[in-house]
Amino acid sequence: MASHIIFVALIAIASITAMAADPSQLQDFCVADENSTALVNGHPCKGSKKVTADDFFFSGLDVAGNTSNAVGSKVTPVNVVQIPGLNTFSISLVRIDYAPFGLNPPHTHPRATEVLVVLEGTILVGFVTSNPENKHYTKVLDKGDVFVFPQGLIHYQYNNWTTSAVAIAGLSSQNPGVITVGNAVFGSTPPILDDVLAKAFQVSKETIDKIQAQF
Ligand SMILES: *[C@@H]1O[C@H](CO)[C@@H](O)[C@H](O)[C@H]1NC(C)=O
Ligand SMILES: *[C@@H]1O[C@H](CO)[C@@H](O)[C@H](O)[C@H]1NC(C)=O
Ligand SMILES: *[C@@H]1O[C@H](CO)[C@@H](O)[C@H](O)[C@H]1NC(C)=O
Repeated sequence: MASHIIFVALIAIASITAMAADPSQLQDFCVADENSTALVNGHPCKGSKKVTADDFFFSGLDVAGNTSNAVGSKVTPVNVVQIPGLNTFSISLVRIDYAPFGLNPPHTHPRATEVLVVLEGTILVGFVTSNPENKHYTKVLDKGDVFVFPQGLIHYQYNNWTTSAVAIAGLSSQNPGVITVGNAVFGSTPPILDDVLAKAFQVSKETIDKIQAQF
């Protein structure tokens, strides 16, 4: 009976303290084994005898991303996909290039906080807090300036100037994920019903259809 009560208490404590995060280390490293078919949260480790320096290496972040696209920006990721040695480490990088008037459109990283440093140019950045405040924090960043986008919050960067800009950002996950608001809401497959979006955004279905056609 007593053991029963202890068991229930332990379950209760465990469920109160249950958290999801990139795991803490149990070994020096766990280089992702891209051939493994095992399903785990992350990647299984490849045998340490097969690990080489190249598993911790990426080259090419000096190369500007191609910003010839509708929004005029390009994100070059360096996460566990590019560097298998990042597996189980709560960290990754991106390079972001902005053409003049280029926008990295509103998006969120479900698994990471981001800290961004401007290397070239000037950008207008911002993020919005969760309900009910939906407070917008925004700032103009010049070369050398650093800004934080808290985990999960919708944020953007806009180069509202005539010179191009470059930023590097660190993210607190090996696999931060990206949800771009416009793509998710108006560009899903299959589409969200225009009745749903018309009511959600309080506009006509024709307006929704027009926006959906852009994605
Ligand atoms: C994955 O498979 C490829 C092709 O069979 C092989 O060349 C490579 O060494 C394998 N990688 C690991 C980590 O076993
Ligand atoms: C950049 O992307 C555009 C549009 O996809 C393409 O036409 C162009 O060739 C690319 N430029 C380079 C240098 O790859
Ligand atoms: C963008 O720049 C133009 C020209 O300087 C200015 O009029 C406009 O207010 C700026 N917009 C934003 C969002 O900063």
